[in-house]
Amino acid sequence: MPGVIEFVNVSKEYKSWFPSRGMVRALDDFSLQVEDGEIFGFLGPNGAGKSTAIHLAMGFMRATSGHGFMLGKGFGDAATRRRVGFLAENVALYHRPAEQLVRFYGALNGMRGSSLARRAHEVVEALGLVSDARRNVRQFSRGMLQRVGLAQALVNDPQLLILDEPTSALDPVARVSVRELLLESRKAGKTIFLSSHMLSEVELVCDRVAVVNRGRLVRLGGISELLESRQESEILARGVPPNSFPGAISSDGLVRFLVEATAQRSALQRVWALGGEIVSVNPVRRSLEELFLEVTTANSSDAIGKGTT
Ligand SMILES: Nc1ncnc2c1ncn2[C@@H]1O[C@H](COP(=O)(O)OP(=O)(O)O)[C@@H](O)[C@H]1O
Ligand SMILES: [Mg+2]
Repeated sequence: MPGVIEFVNVSKEYKSWFPSRGMVRALDDFSLQVEDGEIFGFLGPNGAGKSTAIHLAMGFMRATSGHGFMLGKGFGDAATRRRVGFLAENVALYHRPAEQLVRFYGALNGMRGSSLARRAHEVVEALGLVSDARRNVRQFSRGMLQRVGLAQALVNDPQLLILDEPTSALDPVARVSVRELLLESRKAGKTIFLSSHMLSEVELVCDRVAVVNRGRLVRLGGISELLESRQESEILARGVPPNSFPGAISSDGLVRFLVEATAQRSALQRVWALGGEIVSVNPVRRSLEELFLEVTTANSSDAIGKGTT
């Protein structure tokens, strides 16, 4: 069964903004399948190709080679567009009062009358914009614009939500409410595909994530899987002298130190031998920044998904 979004060996080349550099390969034999009902995080550093992939799926431009499907139809199918909510990375909105604008986008997607009015008000409320609903968005901050952008993406109750960097301008409070919105949408059976170059509150709700770098898929899996490092563990112990473990720090009678996976067993035995007690052993979690650093410095043969259909 095809995914809700499916990229099949998609490449996209642009003419470089710097003429001397010729062509830029923004996506390179990129394949990915997003399943029905999941919140999917599309992660990668700036310039990795995330927006390019999204614009191809939305049919704003054509792939240089390869093809793909969205909700069962080829990329660019006009009727499918109405079943998709889209938030662009750089929200560009007409200068109108916020709620009126949201109604306008609903109307563009074929909604009418009182159901449109009701739904527009609902999403404005859900995004905390009620007190600004009558203000012209011209005066809005980036964070507020992003919330209006999310409201317009949600107004037609889309089956699939595609959000390009939806949280880049949001404050922590807004992030929490967006997270709740996403979880509610998933509960209602929607599929959500969101891109990000950061790891925020919202990306943490993703069921699966893909990491893209230089136009290639370099990681795919659960978020904790990707951030867990198999090489190191953090050990928290009680009742041992801190100087018995290199690099250990102690506070409140607890001693905390890191060990390589291969040295874990002997470290635990050493704690017991010293008459101490193990409080916890946890794999060290990398930050997303560290993961990006790792994938951007790894050589390109690391790419996965190559040649799959
Ligand atoms: N219209 C364009 N013309 C030329 N190069 C582009 C264009 N759009 C994007 N690029 C280049 O393609 C690469 C991928 O960009 P993009 O898809 O925007 O990445 P991301 O969204 O992950 O930051 C970058 O090197 C970017 O400079
Ligand atoms: Mg982008």
